[in-house]
Amino acid sequence: MKRLTVSLPDRNYEIQIQRGLLAQAGRLCRQALPQAGRLFVITDSVAGLLFQERLRASLAGAGFQVALRVVPAGEQSKCAAQLAQLWEEMMAFGLTRTDGVVALGGGVVGDLAGFAAATILRGVDFVQIPTTLLAQVDSSVGGKVAVNLERGKNLAGAFWQPRLVLIDPDALDSLPDPVFADGMAEVIKYGCIADEALLRFLEQHASRPQITQEIESVLYTCCDIKRKVVEQDERDTGARMLLNFGHTLGHAYELAGRYQLWTHGQAVAAGMVREAELGVELGITPPNLAARIGELTQAFGLPRDIPCTGRDYAAAIGLDKKGAGEAITLILPDRPGHAIRYPMGKQALLELL
Ligand code: GLY
Repeated sequence: MKRLTVSLPDRNYEIQIQRGLLAQAGRLCRQALPQAGRLFVITDSVAGLLFQERLRASLAGAGFQVALRVVPAGEQSKCAAQLAQLWEEMMAFGLTRTDGVVALGGGVVGDLAGFAAATILRGVDFVQIPTTLLAQVDSSVGGKVAVNLERGKNLAGAFWQPRLVLIDPDALDSLPDPVFADGMAEVIKYGCIADEALLRFLEQHASRPQITQEIESVLYTCCDIKRKVVEQDERDTGARMLLNFGHTLGHAYELAGRYQLWTHGQAVAAGMVREAELGVELGITPPNLAARIGELTQAFGLPRDIPCTGRDYAAAIGLDKKGAGEAITLILPDRPGHAIRYPMGKQALLELL
């Protein structure tokens, strides 16, 4: 078992990583939530089919009363209407402030369940059990929870840290290749911004079977980077912005594909390549580093570039929550395994693009 502790001013919580951990979820939830009698589990139609019965049996075996709610798989479930329905169902189940919510699934489920936990009864405990690579290395750690609004993604949300994150790498075995590749975009991002050894490791193990052989240590390394960043800057006003490498332009590519053509990971991959190229133009990123990032994303089946109009760039940059006023903070790698925050005017960025 690999363990990490996320230490924050008002709470510490563990990230546990081990093959087969799902079957031990009941015992581990009992340790993390000793007062809880009821657990409201939120999953989606894909993760639920594969894992819900194993989880239900484990939780019931540890003495929890369990309600299981399956939402349709996909981003459309991360909306205010779904959230409102969950609130009503949690109350009908008899959830109290000492009970808890469990997220079983990918990023959509984690964000939706986390925001439901943050808001029901002014906040109850929750446990993340991520089942996609993207959720295991990124969205399950750090407490960002949200739903989408018509005007953009993640516009209604909260910082609500989980009590426990249980990562079972076995869950990844059932992922289709494109979904695995989606998570690899975030893994590559960690290598680029924070860990030169990880970047080199990925270059030397640039296929799914090779990564899978070392998956526990890859997950540990990524979660450890995220842990350190979140501990430094839980509320995303400084160092945490480094995690946005590839995401500023990634948002533009998601928008350019009307959220249908490109997945988040594909958009982030192309965003990292383009942002690194901008870094070269601005004299920050060494040219050979930008080329390495392009080759790595391509090796994992992710796009190096995505067509995007100036209009979509403008819309995405204008909506970016991380930009303050007319300025925006780009994240630019300045050497392998390191990145800097680079504030610039939105208009100047648009002209460069
Ligand atoms: N996924 C980026 C963050 O947690 O800040």
